[in-house]
Amino acid sequence: MTVVRRAASWEAEADLVVTWEANADFVVVGGGVAGLTAARTATLLGLRVLTLSKGGPTDTSTQYAQGGIAVVADIDDTEDSHAADTIAAGAGLCDPEAVKSIVGAGRHAVSILTDLGAVFDHGGDGRVLRTREGGHSTRRIIHAGGDATGAEVQRALGAAGMPVLFGAAAARVVTGRDGVQGVIALSDRGCGVIHAPAVLLATGGLGQLYACSTNPAGATADGVALALDAGAAVADLEFVQFHPTVLFAAGGLGRRPLISEAVRGEGARLVDAFGMSVTEGVHPLGDLAPRDVVSKAIAARLRATGTDHVFLDARAIDGFPQRFPTITASCLAAGIDPRRDLIPVAPAAHYQCGGVVTDLYGRTDVPGLYAAGEVARTGLHGANRLASNSLLEGLVIGERAGAAAAERRDVRAQVRDATLVPQPVLARTDVQRVMTEQAGVVRDGLGLDDATAQLNFADAVVSTDIAAVEDSALTVTARALVLAASVRTESRGCHTRADHPETDDTQRRSTVVRRNADGELAVDSTLAGVP
Ligand code: FAD
Ligand code: SIN
Repeated sequence: MTVVRRAASWEAEADLVVTWEANADFVVVGGGVAGLTAARTATLLGLRVLTLSKGGPTDTSTQYAQGGIAVVADIDDTEDSHAADTIAAGAGLCDPEAVKSIVGAGRHAVSILTDLGAVFDHGGDGRVLRTREGGHSTRRIIHAGGDATGAEVQRALGAAGMPVLFGAAAARVVTGRDGVQGVIALSDRGCGVIHAPAVLLATGGLGQLYACSTNPAGATADGVALALDAGAAVADLEFVQFHPTVLFAAGGLGRRPLISEAVRGEGARLVDAFGMSVTEGVHPLGDLAPRDVVSKAIAARLRATGTDHVFLDARAIDGFPQRFPTITASCLAAGIDPRRDLIPVAPAAHYQCGGVVTDLYGRTDVPGLYAAGEVARTGLHGANRLASNSLLEGLVIGERAGAAAAERRDVRAQVRDATLVPQPVLARTDVQRVMTEQAGVVRDGLGLDDATAQLNFADAVVSTDIAAVEDSALTVTARALVLAASVRTESRGCHTRADHPETDDTQRRSTVVRRNADGELAVDSTLAGVP
């Protein structure tokens, strides 16, 4: 079979030869918590599952998760309380049904992991230890290896033995009259076509849209771009969560080490260069206020003091190296000893609260296309995610999507139009510069207009390798995000407009973006009812 590259007007036509083909009942794109959970569930139901991961086994955000998993399992805590904290953090845009459903499935989700051998930290009395993070009204976050929860989740799911095709990137989800027909993938082995009636996007987040992020290099928003290309809706993209405490280094770019919120949960204080509290008087929860509040307080203090970072004072925490071994190693590598020194920190891009619109089984509005994990927008997070709700969501929706895919088992699928379409592509560093300058913690209309103009200045190119797929996904997603940020003329959750500092109750709805009949990204007001 030959994939014909549809030439852009200026581009010479060229053929891309398909070097491999496969058939599957279900293609899972992504090998993090959501993808591996879905793949396992679908396999147990007897589906032929093919899982693709463009990186290696630990090139996931899951691997880096520190704080833990928010789950109610204590007599002193209730699901209603967890739901109330989630909804309070979400600043008016959470879907209460989604919150109730996902929070309510927490215990079962964690049991999937423990059944697979995941070990969470216990105290001397044998009870699972719980920490606290921003926005939580109580200690409800379980953790592993101190601050290496994600590594344990990734290890346990990996040990379940799901086969994964590493180094293979989904470049396009092909659809036909009956919905999804399969995937076109790129790898070192060339171009592959997988015929399948069901595809799950579990591709993680978009942190690489920004120059500084906690996310790994592969967090390039591929799933958002793939979904838009396939005709699915995305929502709440303007709500990018900037984690308040990322290890600061002058000129530090790319993936930066996180200093978990659990460090504040165990008693560390956020102070400025003069030793003054950053959050006092800002929120009743002080240093443990929701993330958007703390990040904005830091940004304001940086402006007021003319500095580029603040500090975490963790010197009073007993046994810091044992409780936070990963963070200790990152600090020591930077010449900082958290037992003696203040830790320099600044906000950096961390999490996409919105994404591909799905129901509570991962279904998008394209038959056969599912999404789960960070790439999906279920309605759990609203305008700002509550800490440690993400691994929870990946486990819950990953399992449900893996089961839901069985509904497509009898659909005959064949990729007939194996075409890679030209997409706008800017270099990653150019996208990062534009987004960091104009669509960061604080935005305004003029900056967003400038960003739109710069992002529109992209050539349409067919992506024939993984790096180009990533650059294209970043460019397309940046455009969609900036569009959503431009039309939201208010400040809410993680979206702060300097020119519209107030929250406007008439805008208490999600912004939905999809491609229109001309293939252009547009706000879809017909879906304004997305709760
Ligand atoms: P990921 O784990 O990011 O996996 C994405 C997968 O998709 C990867 O395998 C990648 O290679 C693959 N992929 C992407 N695009 C393609 C493509 N085109 N083709 C093929 N494969 C592709 N959340 C919490 O709940 N608690 C925490 O304590 C916590 N701490 C965090 C700390 C850090 C430093 C970071 C970065 C995040 C943290 N989060 C935490 C968030 C959480 O870890 C992530 O949201 C979650 O792990 C995402 O899981 P996922 O399965 O959706 O994606
Ligand atoms: C952290 O440990 O601070 C990150 C937790 C999260 O992003 O959920």
